[in-house]
Amino acid sequence: MTLVPEIDGERLLARLDAFARIGATPAGGVNRQAFSVEDRGARRLLAKLAMERGFAVFQDGIANLFVRREGTDATLPPLLIGSHLDSQPTGGRFDGALGTLAAFEALEALEDAKAETAMPIEVVAWSNEEGSRFAPGVMGSMAFTGSDPAAWKSSVGADGASLATELEATIAALPEAALRPIGKPISGYIELHIEQGPSLEKERLPIGVVTGVQGTRWLEVSIEGTAGHAGTTGLAYRRDPMVAAVAAMHRLQTTIMPPDSSARLTVGRIAAKPGSINAIPQSVAFTVDIRHPRMERLDAIEAELRQVCGAEAETQHCTATIKRSFDMPGAAFSPNMVKIVEAAASSLGLPHKQMISGAFHDALFLARVAPAAMIFVPCRDGLSHNEAEYVEPAYAVTGARVLLQAAIAAASP
Ligand code: GLV
Ligand code: MN
Ligand code: MN
Ligand code: MN
Repeated sequence: MTLVPEIDGERLLARLDAFARIGATPAGGVNRQAFSVEDRGARRLLAKLAMERGFAVFQDGIANLFVRREGTDATLPPLLIGSHLDSQPTGGRFDGALGTLAAFEALEALEDAKAETAMPIEVVAWSNEEGSRFAPGVMGSMAFTGSDPAAWKSSVGADGASLATELEATIAALPEAALRPIGKPISGYIELHIEQGPSLEKERLPIGVVTGVQGTRWLEVSIEGTAGHAGTTGLAYRRDPMVAAVAAMHRLQTTIMPPDSSARLTVGRIAAKPGSINAIPQSVAFTVDIRHPRMERLDAIEAELRQVCGAEAETQHCTATIKRSFDMPGAAFSPNMVKIVEAAASSLGLPHKQMISGAFHDALFLARVAPAAMIFVPCRDGLSHNEAEYVEPAYAVTGARVLLQAAIAAASP
């Protein structure tokens, strides 16, 4: 008798709970930032589950983790399915974990049913997707698709840790996973993820078929003034970079997102030095994350930002320096892989719509080397990068079912 591979919803939900305990925060989220002790714990658990099931486990020099199930045609490169296990510092339980664990569940479902696929299928947990501890994000998938990791080895984390040291310790914490070179030919990539926005929930759609990802650019602004005494320095004598930074941020928040409803601009981190209550700061540094589906708009927004920061710094007799730390043009996914995902949703009778992703994902980089696509499921109130992030269990399971169907179709063309 041939069994039909089926997602075991209870097993998937129990796994999501188990991984949410690694780095759990008191407010119900997770803090499992890239290459941390918690991140290593999640990688170890995935590797352990995989080896118990008899799957081969590999990692590469940037700590991407792979779980492999063989196909029937040894000449075919693998289909990759997965996401990431690292999180934001106050992250949710599903961002990344859902896609990784649903992919592992799909692999187990195939194994349970003794189902054959022509291609090997590899579950992948990409390393440092978030980039909140060590910039840039999507480090694992960037390295896998050809970026040179040497460029990041001297990176220092937001917490002062060394990337090189933490990466080495992360790889060493999993001696049972054989090391393989970074990057290799693949047949395709499919990633399940929570939407991280409100549209599917609002439209009561269980599935989003993702056709592409918008562009992201990260900038680091530093405004330099003169440190001085808070009580004795009169207005005429001040070169206060905080005044310039606040004015620049205010102008940007009121001239970019309105009027362009597709634009996103976020200042997520700000630091004043020396950071003393009774000293005018010597310098104020802040990060800017800008997003837009169109590259030329990203360029225009960056130009406006440079002009505004420069002008506000000058008004305060300060100087502004602006550095790009990350530039990620958007991408359109392979129409064929998008069709496979859409057909999977249709075959399960699930209402769906096509949409582009506002967040960046590892799939953006994989799409440059192989046909890639993504599946979105709704999350409550569109919340993500927030400990309150929540996905209805039924939606998590539904997403995994679509992933399994799509993977079967893609791996046996
Ligand atoms: C990914 O986490 C993003 O910031 O889009
Ligand atoms: Mn994510
Ligand atoms: Mn994220
Ligand atoms: Mn992300």
